[in-house]
Amino acid sequence: MEKKPIVLSGIRPTGNLHLGNYFGAVKNFVKMQETNECYFFIADYHMLTTHPNPQDLQSNVRQVVIEYLAAGLDPEKATLYLQSDIPETAELYLFLNMNAYLGELERVTTFKEKARKQPENVNAGLLTYPTLMASDIIIQRAHLVPVGKDQEQHLEMTRTFARRFNRMYKVDYFPIPKAYNFDQELVKIPGLDGSGKMGKSEGEGNAVFLGEDPKSIRKKVMRAVTDSGPTEMNQEKPEPIQNLFNLMKVVSASDTVDHFDEAYNNCTIRYGDLKKQLAGDIINFTAPFYEKINELSKDDAYIKKVIDMGAEKARANAQKTVREVREIIGFRKIY
Ligand code: TRP
Repeated sequence: MEKKPIVLSGIRPTGNLHLGNYFGAVKNFVKMQETNECYFFIADYHMLTTHPNPQDLQSNVRQVVIEYLAAGLDPEKATLYLQSDIPETAELYLFLNMNAYLGELERVTTFKEKARKQPENVNAGLLTYPTLMASDIIIQRAHLVPVGKDQEQHLEMTRTFARRFNRMYKVDYFPIPKAYNFDQELVKIPGLDGSGKMGKSEGEGNAVFLGEDPKSIRKKVMRAVTDSGPTEMNQEKPEPIQNLFNLMKVVSASDTVDHFDEAYNNCTIRYGDLKKQLAGDIINFTAPFYEKINELSKDDAYIKKVIDMGAEKARANAQKTVREVREIIGFRKIY
C-alpha cells in the first residue's frame, strides 16, 4: 500500500482568526486532516524574530490553539503541536545554517520587507527565518506544505536546502517537499472597509473574527462601506458593494443572495436591509465557533492534553530524523 503523503504547515500566532483566515486556510486544513497524515504547529520559535514579551507570546499561542481547535482541527486526526516543544528543530536548523549562504538569505523578499519594517531589529533570526522553516518541514519529512502565495519563496528555499543536504552527503534522505497552494481554490474573503481582502492589519472594523460576539459583529457590518446606491438597472457593482455580496455568498442561503442581487439590479435595494441580513447570517455562521472558543477557553486541562499529545508524536519523529542526520553528518550517536 502506498503511504499517504505527509502534510505539514506552520501557523504564526498573531492575533485572532477571522473569516478570511477561515475560508483562506483553516477550512482547508480541516479538510486535509480527513485524508492525509497531517502535522500542524504553532510557529512560536519564529515569533522571537519580532521580540515578543513572554506573557504575550504565551497568551497568543494559547489563543491560537483554542481557535484552531474550535475551527475544526481534530487532535485525534491531525498532530497539533508547538514548534518550541520540538527542540530538535533547533539542532537541524543549526545544521542547515551551515549550508545556507548569506547571499541567498539576503535576497528573500520577506527578509527585505521585515528589515525595512523593523530597521532597529534586523536580527540573525530574521535572516535565517527560511532555514528554521525548512527545518520545521523536513524534520517531519513532509511531502506537502499547504501555504499561501506569500510563503512560496520560503518553500522553494526549503527544497533547495533539502536537495543540498542530500547532494552534500550523497544520500537520498530528505523528501523534497512541495508547496500546496490553495489560494485559487478558496474564496477570497473581502474586508468590510470597501477594498481589498479581509485582514487584521487593515484597521479596526475590517475583519470579522470567529470568536467575536454578535453585538460587535452587527456593529461592524452595519458600518461597512457602501455608496449612494445603484442609479441604472443592471449596473456593475462597485467594489465595496461587490464585497458585501461576496461575503453574503459564503454565509447566506443562495436565494437570499439572489433576492438582494435582484433588488440591486432593479435599483430597489436598501443597503440597510442588506447589511442587517448579512450581519444576521454572519452571526449564525460564527455562532458555533464563538461558543466553542468560549468553552475551550475555560478548559486548560484539555488544551494541555492536546498539545502534550501532539508534542509526543511530533517529537518522536523529529528525534528519529535528527538521530539519523547526526549519523549522516558524522557525529556520535547520542540518542
Ligand atoms: N512562515 C509561515 C508563515 O508566516 C509560518 C511557518 C513557519 C510555516 N514554519 C512553517 C509554514 C513551516 C509552513 C511550514 O505563515
